[in-house]
Amino acid sequence: MCPYSPAFLPFHFLLLVLLSSIFLPLCASTHDYHDALTKSILFFEGQRSGRLPPDQQATWRGDSAVSDGSQAGVDLEGGYYDAGDNVKFGFPLAFTTTMLAWGVVEFGELMPPDELRNAEVAVRWATDYLLKTISHPGLIFVQVGDPINDHNCWERPEDMDTARTVYNVTADRPGSEVAGETAAALAAASMVFRETDTEYANMLMAGAKKAFNFADTYKGAYSDDPGLKAGVCPFYCDFDGYQDELLWGAAWLRRASEEDNYLEYIQNNGKTLGAEENINEFGWDNKHAGLNVLISKEFLEGQVLSLESYKGSADSFMCTLVPESTSSHIQYTPGGLIYKPGGSNMQHVTSISFLLLAYAKYLSQSAMTVNCGNITVGPTTLISQAKKQVDYLLGDNPMNMSYMVGYGTRYPQRIHHRGSSLPSISIHPQPIACKDGSDYYTSPDPNPNPHIGAVVGGPGDDDVYKDDRADFRTSEPTTYINAPLVGVLGYFVANPY
Ligand SMILES: *[C@@H]1O[C@H](CO)[C@@H](O)[C@H](O)[C@H]1NC(C)=O
Ligand SMILES: *[C@@H]1O[C@H](CO)[C@@H](O)[C@H](O)[C@H]1NC(C)=O
Ligand SMILES: *[C@@H]1O[C@H](CO)[C@@H](O)[C@H](O)[C@H]1NC(C)=O
Repeated sequence: MCPYSPAFLPFHFLLLVLLSSIFLPLCASTHDYHDALTKSILFFEGQRSGRLPPDQQATWRGDSAVSDGSQAGVDLEGGYYDAGDNVKFGFPLAFTTTMLAWGVVEFGELMPPDELRNAEVAVRWATDYLLKTISHPGLIFVQVGDPINDHNCWERPEDMDTARTVYNVTADRPGSEVAGETAAALAAASMVFRETDTEYANMLMAGAKKAFNFADTYKGAYSDDPGLKAGVCPFYCDFDGYQDELLWGAAWLRRASEEDNYLEYIQNNGKTLGAEENINEFGWDNKHAGLNVLISKEFLEGQVLSLESYKGSADSFMCTLVPESTSSHIQYTPGGLIYKPGGSNMQHVTSISFLLLAYAKYLSQSAMTVNCGNITVGPTTLISQAKKQVDYLLGDNPMNMSYMVGYGTRYPQRIHHRGSSLPSISIHPQPIACKDGSDYYTSPDPNPNPHIGAVVGGPGDDDVYKDDRADFRTSEPTTYINAPLVGVLGYFVANPY
């Protein structure tokens, strides 16, 4: 913990400290949030699929999967690989997009202009692809790449020769989770471009409505269809049902369009779709905590009384994150990191940190607080909880290491990521076949291509990190770990203390 907070020091003392340059050694927990923000966005360049533009900065990557979609006679080039593999999974990709866009919507104006622009580029790379997935009548394309074949190889995306199977959902084989999340993503992104590119924003909004109608008209979970199940499970099965994505899609459409029919949808369907359940989860599969925060904004600003229960649910979620409250029950590591079992823990850290900041913003705009049993919690407490998580991620932790590649002096060297761990196509242009990558996979050497900005799954519940490439649960980056972090870092660039 930083014992000296500049804000509370007398000016002459502060000046003395700065002049004698003992300021930094005294206070090691001041992070370069701007640097971290830049890198968190750059990460998305390393995940790009398709033809790369001339201004690509992650130059260790090359063009890949340029004919995705050809198997179905359509163009599905583009988008992002979800993690350390080369599959384009639509469900987590759409969630990634929603979170990137939400970060820009809430905190974009706090970002340095260059970074705001870079964040918009990262959103657009995803939405250009999502628009392609919904542009054919009667179906939505939900994935490209056979995950079993893909995972069987340790291959650079540029060399990929595994089946680029194209998966779709239809009226007969519905996928309301992926369609609902796609609606949320496109609606949120329409707000990002509303002022800078109205034509594109309108296209996104039209796409969001179309995806939502599809999700709502043909209700069902994509993993209930045996063919789709074989493609999406066990990686991104719909474990938690599609009902939350219907409400989430409606909530984003309401926020972006301000149309009353989406508000009515939430009011009429909230109970049957299980929104009253207080499920303290938020991630690519479960939207409940995020939904409660987002709809609370509507209640706090519009005083729509029928939505009051969403604030109650958001409040009790926030209380679980405040260790000083009687209702606290989320797990923290001894070093103070939010911890949920199941692997890729940093996804919870970043998405919960985002919700803490978004809720703090909504509360402070309406001068509200949260009652957590024996204590009352205001925005400042929520912000400081988020800051602790981010500072841990960036290096204030028992391992003294940053969990973002390229940030700080010590960070993961052996991330579970095919492109990062194999020699770059620019240095080693000869193809490396499926099984020929194994030597690189098992090598104890650091990855040759530092995937700048990639945040890994992170340490175990004992705060220990082994930097083991084979342990994907701890060493693999994913797009939905980084996506919520972009907005969070944007906030802390402007509010570093
Ligand atoms: C959609 O998926 C079904 C089932 O796999 C397949 O038969 C059909 O050809 C696909 N349609 C397109 C346009 O890819
Ligand atoms: C609230 O309760 C918690 C847990 O019992 C306790 O640690 C904390 O000191 C209490 N705070 C106040 C202000 O009473
Ligand atoms: C981290 O830094 C602290 C303080 O310098 C030191 O006591 C501790 O041993 C370090 N831990 C590791 C794992 O390097």
